Amino acid sequence: MDNRSHGRCSPPRLVHLIASALLFLCVATTPAASHLHGGPDTGVHKNFLIIVRRPYEYDTNVYKNVSSWHASLLAEVCDMAKEALENDPSSVTRLIYSYRNVVNGFSARLTTEELEEMSKKDWFAKAYPEKTYQLMTTHTPKMLGLMGEGRDGDGVWNTSNMGEGIIIGVLDDGIYAGHPSFDAAGMKPPPEKWNGRCDFNNTVCNNKLIGARSFFESAKWKWKGLDDPVLPINEGQHGTHTSSTAAGAFVPGANISGNAVGTAAGMAPRAHIAFYQVCFEQKGCDRDDILAAVDEAIEDGVDVLSLSLGGNPGADFSEDPVSLGGYTAALNGVFVSTAAGNIGPNPGTLSNGAPWLLTVGASTTDRRFAASVKLGSDLELDGESLSEPKDYGKEMRPLARDVGDGQCTSESVLTAQNITGKIIICEAGGGLSTAKAKTVLRAGAFGMIVVAPEVFGPVIVPRPHVLPTVQVPYAVGQKIKSYLQSERSPTANLIFKGTLFDTPRSPMMAPFSSRGPNVKSRGILKPDIIGPGVNVLAGVPGVADMVLEPKAEMPKFDIKSGTSMSCPHLAGVAALLKNAHPTWSSAAIKSALMTTTETNDNTKKPIADVDGTQATYFATGAGHVNPKKAMDPGLVYNLSASDYIPYLCGLNYTDQQVNSIIHPEPPVNCEKLTKLQEKDLNYPSITVIIDNADTIVNASRAVTNVGVASSKYTVEVEVPKSVTVEVLPPELTFKELDEVLNYTVSVKASSVPDGAIEGQLKWVSKKHIVRSPILILPGTGEEGTAEAPAPSAQP
Ligand SMILES: *[C@@H]1O[C@H](CO)[C@@H](O)[C@H](O)[C@H]1NC(C)=O
Ligand SMILES: *[C@@H]1O[C@H](CO)[C@@H](O)[C@H](O)[C@H]1NC(C)=O
Ligand SMILES: *[C@@H]1O[C@H](CO)[C@@H](O)[C@H](O)[C@H]1NC(C)=O
Ligand SMILES: *[C@@H]1O[C@H](CO)[C@@H](O)[C@H](O)[C@H]1NC(C)=O
Ligand SMILES: *[C@@H]1O[C@H](CO)[C@@H](O)[C@H](O)[C@H]1NC(C)=O
Ligand SMILES: *[C@@H]1O[C@H](CO)[C@@H](O)[C@H](O)[C@H]1NC(C)=O
Ligand SMILES: *[C@@H]1O[C@H](CO)[C@@H](O)[C@H](O)[C@H]1NC(C)=O
Ligand SMILES: *[C@@H]1O[C@H](CO)[C@@H](O)[C@H](O)[C@H]1NC(C)=O
Ligand SMILES: *[C@@H]1O[C@H](CO)[C@@H](O)[C@H](O)[C@H]1NC(C)=O
Repeated sequence: MDNRSHGRCSPPRLVHLIASALLFLCVATTPAASHLHGGPDTGVHKNFLIIVRRPYEYDTNVYKNVSSWHASLLAEVCDMAKEALENDPSSVTRLIYSYRNVVNGFSARLTTEELEEMSKKDWFAKAYPEKTYQLMTTHTPKMLGLMGEGRDGDGVWNTSNMGEGIIIGVLDDGIYAGHPSFDAAGMKPPPEKWNGRCDFNNTVCNNKLIGARSFFESAKWKWKGLDDPVLPINEGQHGTHTSSTAAGAFVPGANISGNAVGTAAGMAPRAHIAFYQVCFEQKGCDRDDILAAVDEAIEDGVDVLSLSLGGNPGADFSEDPVSLGGYTAALNGVFVSTAAGNIGPNPGTLSNGAPWLLTVGASTTDRRFAASVKLGSDLELDGESLSEPKDYGKEMRPLARDVGDGQCTSESVLTAQNITGKIIICEAGGGLSTAKAKTVLRAGAFGMIVVAPEVFGPVIVPRPHVLPTVQVPYAVGQKIKSYLQSERSPTANLIFKGTLFDTPRSPMMAPFSSRGPNVKSRGILKPDIIGPGVNVLAGVPGVADMVLEPKAEMPKFDIKSGTSMSCPHLAGVAALLKNAHPTWSSAAIKSALMTTTETNDNTKKPIADVDGTQATYFATGAGHVNPKKAMDPGLVYNLSASDYIPYLCGLNYTDQQVNSIIHPEPPVNCEKLTKLQEKDLNYPSITVIIDNADTIVNASRAVTNVGVASSKYTVEVEVPKSVTVEVLPPELTFKELDEVLNYTVSVKASSVPDGAIEGQLKWVSKKHIVRSPILILPGTGEEGTAEAPAPSAQP
């Protein structure tokens, strides 16, 4: 095991030194050469991901291993690499990573000249310059949470043994190994197939946290200070939170500022965690490091990957590390949960849209950190707070607003206004509300009311503040301000009520959750599903901006928001499903999750978006996860990894693009295959694009019986009157388990729809309802042009 990665992901120090010495020489000598050639960029080395043209593959008869093959390819263009190779064949000079599974290629340090030279080689397919990906937390990376106290939890945990024996691989920024969520009490050793390792200090790992590694060989070239392995054990605000959400152990007495008290647990409390550090706080995640970690995780034997990271929504599936690595992971039976992104609510903002990934959007929970503002007029208005003071008087205080920019960003302006002893209203914008709190406290304020941005609707993302603070929705803020203007001596008081489970409507869409359409494959609805992603409580190394009483212990739990938080919820639930159904494919698990969702909220109305209107499929996908129902879906839409090949050809990808994605499956020639249109991919949601009036478009599906051996299902379709949908046959009669039956959905439209049309199809038996959303889109892409305001900085 050690041998395998020796000289690759964690090269010994010596090789590092040789590498940097040689690089230095390369840099030092090329300026002269560049003078001769006159090239402007000569001598500057940059990181590139190099894709090797297929069918070029490494020949086991000639090369000892794939990295010596890659080193020899590199030596064709770099004299320094050639020398190093001749003198010491084990040297991997200039080679950053040699990929074994995820792509047919490697990453390397190259000059522009060398790259140009390389691009003339027969084996060269494509080079991608280095790229940074981001963790999917909201801009003010702070939030809240729902944990394993779920009412449905007990039953699911019973039939899935809490995910025992399942390994969840998490790629993130670090993990605080000493956190009680990663305590191994009661955990069995990892299964035999586990082939990973715990780097750094071995003692940080145990039967819960079974692996911890850092991938920074590519990142270290662009971000200073990563030259030494960064111990991913004492930091990792984000990674500790996501890991403990997916598979944290039971921790009694978890709370944030005395709120949300309870026993915290991840979705799969007995699953193992394998942690791969690929992101760095304040910096991001390097593409080639992500690929290397997925490469490793596949060989290590993880069952589920939780990837709360992503890049540009427009990235092609053949260029994106999550979809490239995710395909090979799926090929190896790994379930891949990804975050949809946090740049909603604008349309077409979604990342990680490949159909072999589960793409998870974020929604709210029923919990709130209740607080209110009582005005001199006796009007009491609701908000939320995590800044509950110990003794807070009942008397009314003078109420004021910041007459500067209104955002309470200038201490001198506030001081000049003399806000001493007052409660001050601060608008969102101009930085974090925690920073405003410090400013207004220094200026003498008694308390603070923070008004959320309009785009957040009723959603509040509270933080602990240094003075008593209530955060209110935009609409409430307007009411407070009109009271302020109408009064000569306005007064107010803040009332703190603690944690309540009475949110009027939940779940509701999170304003930041990225939305479809899926720009890289409009015919596949994304996101797939939504899960809790607003104010999720989970483990952290410590809480920023926390005002601690003397000798008080730093809290080990905090609330965070983002699709980064919803992604590990689904990874954990997938681990439960894997335990309960070890033979199911990743596609079958995804289908089970998607066809059993909740589409209504706690008021029995369809799940709402933040503006109060019904959330569209582009926001919710199939709906909100219901783990209990997902355990027993009745029927599943199954796919194997190779089913995506005719789909990719149908997207009109070049053979080279298809072959980079499907590596290490044998290369294909799309001309020789029957291409599959997106609508015919056996996906659990159904999207049909209508290009012309008076047309009938058919979509085919196949369902596998995983419920009751002998069972009969009848179809029920609900669509608006503007279209007709017919399903043939309308009844499916199964005689045995694992039997597969086909059906066709025919969509008839008399005209091209002028926007997205939403409906649903249900297969109903005595015991099961198997629901698929039906989305009918115009061929023009008109549905994606609706204007929506961009969210401004969070309160
Ligand atoms: C590949 O082979 C070289 C030399 O033959 C060796 O030094 C290196 O460690 C090997 N790499 C891997 C990943 O096994
Ligand atoms: C959980 O499993 C035990 C036996 O393993 C059974 O007695 C109990 O009824 C189950 N509880 C639920 C809620 O299914
Ligand atoms: C490993 O961690 C243990 C416990 O935290 C500590 O006692 C030991 O000194 C560490 N060893 C190294 C080599 O850092
Ligand atoms: C500011 O207002 C407070 C209370 O109204 C008052 O006690 C104080 O003297 C004022 N300070 C200045 C500098 O005006
Ligand atoms: C809340 O957490 C702190 C540590 O962060 C702990 O000391 C306290 O006991 C907890 N409160 C409750 C009610 O469990
Ligand atoms: C789905 O397809 C895979 C691969 O073809 C197969 O192994 C599996 O048994 C099928 N059924 C389910 C329920 O996963
Ligand atoms: C692929 O190309 C064909 C033929 O030009 C076209 O009809 C089809 O719409 C294209 N598919 C996609 C997904 O763009
Ligand atoms: C669509 O499906 C219907 C019913 O299965 C069938 O009669 C019709 O021929 C199909 N049309 C096309 C274009 O495949
Ligand atoms: C179902 O469809 C698949 C391909 O779409 C086909 O290979 C299979 O024969 C069909 N099965 C039945 C029972 O018609």
